[in-house]
Amino acid sequence: MRTSLVLTLLFFCSCNGISLVLARSMRTDEGTVLLSIKKGLIDSSDYLKDWELDVKGWRNELVYCNWTGVFCNSNGVVEKLDLSNMNLTGRISDDIEKLRSLSVFNVSFNGFSTSLPKSMSNLTLLRQLDVSQNNFVGGFPTGLGSAVGLAFINASSNNFSGFLPEDLGNVTSLESLDFRGSYFEGSIPSSYKNLQKLKFLGLSGNNLTGRIPGMLGQLSSLETIILGYNEFEGEIPRELGDLTNLQYLDLAVGNLSSKIPAELGKLKKLNTVYLYSNRFEGEIPSEIGNITSLVILDLSQNRLSGEIPASISELKSLKLLNLMSNRLTGQVPMGLGELPELQVLELWNNSLIGHLPTNLGQNSPLQWLDVSSNSLTGEIPANLCSSSNLTKLILFNNAFSGPIPIGLSTCLSLVRVRLQNNFISGTIPPGFGKLGKLQRLELANNTLTGEIPDDIASSMSLSFIDLSRNHFQSSLPSSILSIPDLQSFLVSNNELKGEIPDQFQDCPALSLLDLSDNQLSGTIPASIASCKKLVKLNLQNNQFTGEIPRAISTMPTLSILDLSNNSLNGFIPDNIGSSPALETLNLSYNRLEGPVPTNGILKTINPDDLAGNAGLCGGALPPCSNSTAVSLSRRRVHIKHIVIGWLVGIHHCLLLELCYLLGDGCTKIGTSMEVA
Ligand SMILES: *[C@@H]1O[C@H](CO)[C@@H](O)[C@H](O)[C@H]1NC(C)=O
Ligand SMILES: *[C@@H]1O[C@H](CO)[C@@H](O)[C@H](O)[C@H]1NC(C)=O
Ligand SMILES: *[C@@H]1O[C@H](CO)[C@@H](O)[C@H](O)[C@H]1NC(C)=O
Ligand SMILES: *[C@@H]1O[C@H](CO)[C@@H](O)[C@H](O)[C@H]1NC(C)=O
Ligand SMILES: *[C@@H]1O[C@H](CO)[C@@H](O)[C@H](O)[C@H]1NC(C)=O
Ligand SMILES: *[C@@H]1O[C@H](CO)[C@@H](O)[C@H](O)[C@H]1NC(C)=O
Ligand SMILES: *[C@@H]1O[C@H](CO)[C@@H](O)[C@H](O)[C@H]1NC(C)=O
Ligand SMILES: *[C@@H]1O[C@H](CO)[C@@H](O)[C@H](O)[C@H]1NC(C)=O
Ligand SMILES: *[C@@H]1O[C@H](CO)[C@@H](O)[C@H](O)[C@H]1NC(C)=O
Ligand SMILES: *[C@@H]1O[C@H](CO)[C@@H](O)[C@H](O)[C@H]1NC(C)=O
Ligand SMILES: *[C@@H]1O[C@H](CO)[C@@H](O)[C@H](O)[C@H]1NC(C)=O
Ligand SMILES: *[C@@H]1O[C@H](CO)[C@@H](O)[C@H](O)[C@H]1NC(C)=O
Repeated sequence: MRTSLVLTLLFFCSCNGISLVLARSMRTDEGTVLLSIKKGLIDSSDYLKDWELDVKGWRNELVYCNWTGVFCNSNGVVEKLDLSNMNLTGRISDDIEKLRSLSVFNVSFNGFSTSLPKSMSNLTLLRQLDVSQNNFVGGFPTGLGSAVGLAFINASSNNFSGFLPEDLGNVTSLESLDFRGSYFEGSIPSSYKNLQKLKFLGLSGNNLTGRIPGMLGQLSSLETIILGYNEFEGEIPRELGDLTNLQYLDLAVGNLSSKIPAELGKLKKLNTVYLYSNRFEGEIPSEIGNITSLVILDLSQNRLSGEIPASISELKSLKLLNLMSNRLTGQVPMGLGELPELQVLELWNNSLIGHLPTNLGQNSPLQWLDVSSNSLTGEIPANLCSSSNLTKLILFNNAFSGPIPIGLSTCLSLVRVRLQNNFISGTIPPGFGKLGKLQRLELANNTLTGEIPDDIASSMSLSFIDLSRNHFQSSLPSSILSIPDLQSFLVSNNELKGEIPDQFQDCPALSLLDLSDNQLSGTIPASIASCKKLVKLNLQNNQFTGEIPRAISTMPTLSILDLSNNSLNGFIPDNIGSSPALETLNLSYNRLEGPVPTNGILKTINPDDLAGNAGLCGGALPPCSNSTAVSLSRRRVHIKHIVIGWLVGIHHCLLLELCYLLGDGCTKIGTSMEVA
């Protein structure tokens, strides 16, 4: 056909000088057009270096058909231009319209930040247009409505603005329309109701407003609707229930409201539903249980109330159920424990009561279970990890009771175990330290008893351990602070005894160490200063004795140090105020003595943070009497002897004890006796 057209033109033109040129170059013309298009492009990676018409090129007029990204039909006419992924910038020339037979135009994955030429609307034979993954600005060209064979438009991930092109409603051949991720505004044009062949409609991530039009329900070929991340409001049109071919419905993140229409239950092919982060209210329609093909159901972050419909247990293909952050009440349907594919169950932040299905995890490869912040009771199901897939177990802020199931401590896939704020009792079953992926072990505020299992100290993966507010007895496992990735170790408010283990050379990651409110004793090991990343050290309310290690003041990041309510004695290290990062220091209620240094943070310290140390004076506290100062400075010289000599040391302790009892006037007596 094309050839005969050329011949006709040749014949016609032989008697017309002007048209002769046109005819002779009907083909080479396209080469010239391509070169003119190239002129507009900035091809900094030189992908189009073979686009040139040399002498040889003029001899073989179809040479451009061999150029990178150019595809001709058998008659040497350019049908396809694939300039995708070539790091191109610059602009697409208006001359593009001269490639009259262009049917596929692909410039995706480049760096264009100009606008598309209006002349594109003259490409009436276009079938596929892909300009995705650029930064194209301005409006999307109108006029493509007359490209009667256009089936595929992908303009996603750009900076287009303005309204969606209304005339595309004329392109009844359109099967796929992807306008995701630009700045389109306005609503969905009603002309789109003609797009009877449309299978894919992607408009998410724009600034679209208004209601979702009910006419979408007439687009009977639709398989995928992605409208999320816009500002649509109003309800989901019940007409969407007529889309018998619909497989994927994404309306997440918008201002949609009202009830979720029961009509969605008619969609027998639907496998994915994302409605999260809207304002849906009322009950979840029980008809949802009719969508037996459903694999992913995410209704989280809405205002849904009432109970989770028991019919959800009919969704035998369900892999993900996310209903978190709603206002759901009642019990978790027992049938969820029977779903054979269930991998992710997120019900957190609702008002659910009762216990979890006892067979949860027993019949499916459960990976994530998060039911935190509800009012759930009963025991933790025993077989959550029976398929060895469980990575996240998050049950905090509930009223679970009973023991930690043994099966968890051998669940090698676990990464996070967060059980805090419950009434879980019994001991920690041994084994968690051997779970090579476990990073967080949070058991705080339960009623756990017994020892901290030794194996935890040999973990190579734990970074966060919180066992606070339980009834753990025993001592700290000796190498617990040497866990290589340990960042936070919190065991406050237990009944721990014994000393701080000093079997660590360094604790490379430790930033938070809270041993407060226990019965720990012995001295504070100077090796603690090797924890170079420690930010907060809380040892308050224990029975620590001995002096504050001078090395503490060299810790580069230590910002909060609480040693209050212990039995520490000796002087405050005179360099502590110059500790580089220290912001909060509490030394109150110990047996410290001597003048308070006046450098750094000690200049401005609240006297309350030094209170209850009868032997301290000066600095932020009332001044030392002259004799005190003299005798103390003399003692500073002899300090070594005092520490070395047991007798003297004991004597010294007794003296301080005495001071403690005698109160104010005692310093003088104590120190003068000392001097004597
Ligand atoms: C892409 O183009 C930019 C300039 O537009 C250039 O700096 C960069 O090196 C190019 N990247 C590659 C992979 O060629
Ligand atoms: C395209 O290149 C091939 C091989 O490089 C060559 O055989 C063919 O003649 C070229 N075609 C044109 C139209 O230049
Ligand atoms: C355009 O090119 C990209 C990258 O090469 C490709 O993934 C995409 O499928 C192409 N689009 C069309 C419509 O052929
Ligand atoms: C496109 O939008 C992005 C994100 O808003 C912005 O960073 C970029 O500068 C924009 N580019 C152009 C060419 O407008
Ligand atoms: C389309 O082509 C016609 C005829 O060449 C021309 O008059 C018109 O300006 C073109 N349209 C656009 C938008 O460039
Ligand atoms: C559009 O292009 C993007 C990549 O640029 C791709 O991820 C997306 O799947 C395409 N849309 C359609 C409907 O093919
Ligand atoms: C194309 O659509 C527009 C707007 O929807 C309409 O006004 C126009 O008549 C249509 N053109 C054709 C050729 O159907
Ligand atoms: C478009 O949406 C973005 C992101 O939601 C927002 O920052 C921007 O202000 C909106 N622009 C308009 C014109 O509404
Ligand atoms: C759909 O769900 C409702 C409520 O759960 C139920 O009564 C009805 O029988 C179901 N319809 C079909 C066709 O399964
Ligand atoms: C569950 O774990 C097994 C064994 O590690 C693995 O082969 C399987 O792919 C996992 N299943 C899922 C759904 O991740
Ligand atoms: C401890 O857990 C119980 C039960 O969840 C909760 O009521 C209480 O507020 C929690 N206490 C603290 C201090 O978090
Ligand atoms: C303390 O000693 C200084 C001189 O060292 C003296 O000036 C001062 O009056 C004395 N103060 C008291 C309260 O004895």
